[in-house]
Amino acid sequence: MKIYKMAVIAGDGIGPEVLREGIKVLDTVAEKDGGFRFEWTYFPWGCEYYLKHGRMMAEDGIETLKGFDAIYLGAVGAPGVPDHISLWDLLLVIRKSFDQYVNLRPVKLLRGAPCPLKDAKREDIDMVFVRENSEGEYAGSGSWLYKGKPNEVVIQNGVFSRVGCERVIRYAYELARRDRKTLTSVSKGNALNYSMVFWDQIFKEVGKEYPDVETHSLLVDAASMFMVKDPKRFQVVVTSNLFGDILTDLGAAISGGMGLAAGANLNPERKYPSMFEPIHGSAPDIAGKGIADPLASIWSASQILDFFGEEEWGKKILGAIEQLLTEGKTLTPDIGGTASTSEVGSAVAEILRR
Ligand code: NAD
Ligand code: IPM
Ligand code: MN
Repeated sequence: MKIYKMAVIAGDGIGPEVLREGIKVLDTVAEKDGGFRFEWTYFPWGCEYYLKHGRMMAEDGIETLKGFDAIYLGAVGAPGVPDHISLWDLLLVIRKSFDQYVNLRPVKLLRGAPCPLKDAKREDIDMVFVRENSEGEYAGSGSWLYKGKPNEVVIQNGVFSRVGCERVIRYAYELARRDRKTLTSVSKGNALNYSMVFWDQIFKEVGKEYPDVETHSLLVDAASMFMVKDPKRFQVVVTSNLFGDILTDLGAAISGGMGLAAGANLNPERKYPSMFEPIHGSAPDIAGKGIADPLASIWSASQILDFFGEEEWGKKILGAIEQLLTEGKTLTPDIGGTASTSEVGSAVAEILRR
């Protein structure tokens, strides 16, 4: 029996509520399969932990996490703790320490999912974002000079390294080649005259190794417009850290909402554990009410199975989500239902059990 050692960081707000359902689904899958099981280790890290201990995770947190096959994360952020502290000292430090330089975010309209675009058909919205996840606008380089003085200055640098750009762009080309999809690079070379000119150059350079892959390049402003007006242009998309963050919330909006958007933070070399999470935040506006949509977490559970080589189960989970959506009986309020978070998780598990 294979054992997958999983670190659980449920975090804040709706994080624990939605993650519980993802774990329910994964345990159901393991039980059905019989060939593997999950061993869950829970870490109480997050904003409550911060308020008690003055830090977001244990001092040896990163060292401890190294021993796991993967990390399953809920959400981080609570009103009592500044966001730049809570996110930098937990989510972002894990992405960076474990060189999870690929953030893989599907933007796919499942059968039965609501879509606000009036003419869009299901097959028109089927893309996957490869977001750079280790540097760029999120490098954390800068300074705050003359704080509080009239001549106060802040500097936030974007850091784009050759290695950093090449590896994520190459990953995207490989994915496009494997799946016989087009590849679109989204950048902003007209205004960001160093970083994005460099990005565009590397996109072309690496592309020479992939003459079989059809490519497109778009400026980020036009790309956001086309995602709404003509989403079928996009198949595999590669972009920088910040652009990927913003465009994938837009992607969520056109493919069922925040309650349905998942993401995998991958260290493709598997030198370090990868991390799986819904892309939404801790949603303080609905936390504690038991109405958060767990489908994004459940979708990321399917990404975990793909990553472990259990792709058949990954597909079955997506199929179960689709069935739940088309039946339309057990849905949370964000997508027009009245069911609770745990009812949705149990319904998905029940479909898989059948
Ligand atoms: P958010 O994603 O938490 O919420 C945005 C909106 O979407 C809210 O109206 C919320 O109710 C709704 N929503 C989100 N997830 C939902 C779900 N599963 N079901 C139903 N509705 C859902 O973004 P925000 O409000 O900008 O941020 C709240 C906090 O979360 C902040 O502290 C922020 O820094 C943090 N954050 C964390 C992560 C993360 O941990 N990965 C991601 C984004 C934001
Ligand atoms: C996401 C989140 C994070 C990001 C924040 C919370 C730092 O918005 O995962 O999309 O910007 O990467
Ligand atoms: Mn985001």
